[in-house]
Amino acid sequence: IDTVVFENSTEASKAVAKQIAALIKSKQENNESCVLGLATGSSPKGLYAELVRLHKEEGLSFKNVITFNLDEYYPMEPDSVNSYVRFMKELLMDQVDILPENYHIPDGLLTKEEIADYCADYEAKIEALGGIDLQVLGIGANGHIGFNESGSLQNSKTRLVALDHITRVAASKDFFGLNNTPRTAITLGVKKIMEAKQVILLAWGEGKADVVRKSVEGEVTNRIPASFLQEHSNVVFVLDKEASSKLT
Ligand code: F6R
Repeated sequence: IDTVVFENSTEASKAVAKQIAALIKSKQENNESCVLGLATGSSPKGLYAELVRLHKEEGLSFKNVITFNLDEYYPMEPDSVNSYVRFMKELLMDQVDILPENYHIPDGLLTKEEIADYCADYEAKIEALGGIDLQVLGIGANGHIGFNESGSLQNSKTRLVALDHITRVAASKDFFGLNNTPRTAITLGVKKIMEAKQVILLAWGEGKADVVRKSVEGEVTNRIPASFLQEHSNVVFVLDKEASSKLT
C-alpha cells in the first residue's frame, strides 16, 4: 500500500480534490462518464468542500460524474439529520451540477424483504458502467471500510450488516446516545471496493494511527478489513502526520 503524508488534512484534501478533478476532466475530454465511489463521515468533508470550491470558482463540472456511496444506516429516513443522503446532498450534490439521477446512496427505507434485490441491483448498476473508476474510503478505528466490519469476507457482497459496538459508540454522539444509534446498515461489499480501478483512503488524526499501521504493515486479515487493500494494485493511503505516526 502506498502512503502519502501531508502536513495536515486540509492540504491533503486539496491534493486529493485536484486529482479527482483531473480524472473527471480527462473523462470529459473522451466523452466518458466518471464513476466515483464515495464515503461519508468526517474524513472526506474537506475533500467535498474543495470539490465544491473547484466547481464554484474554477468551473469544474460534474455533468459526466456518476457516484455510488458506500453505505447508509438501516433503517434511516433520507431527510433525517443523520442520514447519509442528507450528508451528501448538503456537502456535495446540492452544491455542484451533478444530475440528480446520477448519484446513488443506499436506501435506508427498504423493507427487509426488498434489501437483497436492491443490493444486487446496486452492484449491477456499477457493473453496467464498467465498475468504479475511483473509490474514496475512510477507515474505522476498528479497520472497517464502508461498513464492512471485522469478520467481513474479501469477496463479500453489498448487504445488510450489523454494526460493531465500537462503530455504534463512534456514531452515538450524532444520535444522542447509543440507544438511538442504528444497529444495522447497508454497505457496499468488500468485493466491489476491491474491484475499483483506484482506491484513495483518507485518515486523519492520531486516533487512526494504530489501525493505519495494522492495515498497511500487518497481516492481511478479515479482522481488519482495510488490510485487504494490500492486495489491491492501485491504492494509496492519504494521511496527515498524526495518522502516519506509527508507520515504521
Ligand atoms: C462512511 C464509511 C465509514 C467511515 C469510517 C471513518 O461512509 O464508510 O467506513 O469512512 O467510519 O469515519 P470518519 O471519517 O468519521 O472517521
